[in-house]
Amino acid sequence: MTAVDDARALLASLTDAPPAGVWSAPGRANLIGEHTDYNEGFVLPFAIAQRTAAAVALRDDDLIRVRSTFSSTGVDVSLADLDARIAAGGLDWAGYPLGVAWALRAEAPDATPRGLDIAVASEVPVGAGLSSSAAIEGAVASALNDLWDAGRDKVALARVGRIAENDAVGAPTGIMDQMASMLGVADAATFLDCRTLATRPVALGFAEAGLQILVIDTLVEHAHSSGGYRERRASCEKGAAAFDVAALRDLGVDDLPRAAEILDDVTFRRVRHIVTENQRVLDTVAALDADGPRAIGDLLTASHVSMRDDFEISVPELDLAVETALSSGALGARMTGGGFGGAAIALLDSELVPAATEAVLAAFAAAGFRRPNIFTVTPSEGARRDVGGRPTGPGSVSGASPRLGRRVVGGGPGRRGGFRLGLHLLRRGGSPFRRVPPSTRRRSAAAPSARGPADAPRAGPGGPRSSVRPELRPAPRRRAVPARRPRARPG
Ligand code: GLA
Repeated sequence: MTAVDDARALLASLTDAPPAGVWSAPGRANLIGEHTDYNEGFVLPFAIAQRTAAAVALRDDDLIRVRSTFSSTGVDVSLADLDARIAAGGLDWAGYPLGVAWALRAEAPDATPRGLDIAVASEVPVGAGLSSSAAIEGAVASALNDLWDAGRDKVALARVGRIAENDAVGAPTGIMDQMASMLGVADAATFLDCRTLATRPVALGFAEAGLQILVIDTLVEHAHSSGGYRERRASCEKGAAAFDVAALRDLGVDDLPRAAEILDDVTFRRVRHIVTENQRVLDTVAALDADGPRAIGDLLTASHVSMRDDFEISVPELDLAVETALSSGALGARMTGGGFGGAAIALLDSELVPAATEAVLAAFAAAGFRRPNIFTVTPSEGARRDVGGRPTGPGSVSGASPRLGRRVVGGGPGRRGGFRLGLHLLRRGGSPFRRVPPSTRRRSAAAPSARGPADAPRAGPGGPRSSVRPELRPAPRRRAVPARRPRARPG
């Protein structure tokens, strides 16, 4: 049974009315670009095959009833009471679908809200850092968009999901998850500029290269509405304020020596993570375009080291997952998502998957950690209408067509003076939002370079040709996560 089947069955148990349709949206894995979204930077997530489905029937009153297969909590609320119920909070999981209804009504004043029965089922693991919440938001936003005649495109629906998450549920997240879930394309990652919301699908070619992404869900629980996530946001805002810029996206690696001078140690390291992570996203896109997926492993691992040592959002279980995957032959590995728990991803040859899985299970058992949940994920299609009416796959919700190689929304990087790292790429004749045709790629099985593509920007405190501080940069071919280093500032 798929989530679509489960949602239909649940709806049938709730009402005799025929379903008006079934809509679904996927979870996501973030390939690279962590905590950069709310700093208006770059991210590179991909939608996964596991989906959440919403089967919906129209009602002839103004009641919205939400039910799910994964919670005994169901909520009934009239459209007249919706604002008050959202303001009162305490809606549990129903805050996501009802938050979407609330946000869409506000964002689309021309829509015609009406009563609905909404049955939700999900295949996306909850709490694994794979955005089960964005999947609920995407499925419900797509359904309401059609049934309320809201006529919003996929980017606008991603915004609605984020408003629901931020203002109805109270989690201060960025927009990466909703954009990845709405705009996903099979075999591709979504390269997103979180300032302009410009996107470009970037071909991943994992299957063609004989590679897979292994997810190691540590089952360590995290929550984005509290604690560390908020603190990290506050540190980033403090760093941006010290430089008098709108967001950390406006800083580049050549600003880090100055950052070391004017910021306290903790804020400096938070800033350094964001600045170097933005650079790693650009380097990863350039490496994928030029050389394919075997070229990105060391960038993934460098991202993990930066999250572990500078942003301090990893946990021992995530570090062990990364270290064990690398020592089992993974090309690169990193924690994915908001951190403080959740999952790690590892990029590795398909034939290594069974042995790497065994090695991680054994390492967790030896460390006395809970047995992790380990599975592979496949870059897949974003939100769509699965049953009933006009299909709403890529290209039909919005009329925009997120096919490979086509820029679908907004402008490129560069508003408010532009991100200098992006501008370096532009000056070198290639926008990071312009895709290199696969035929011009150099397909190479050579060892991946930790330095990224030859034409990537190179200024920084770690040396004239380094985009990542040398002590944070994993040595090529070592396939082990670099040990923790003393927190020396660049000099
Ligand atoms: C969570 C949030 C995202 C993003 C990531 C970290 O998944 O929902 O907006 O901030 O954490 O990259």
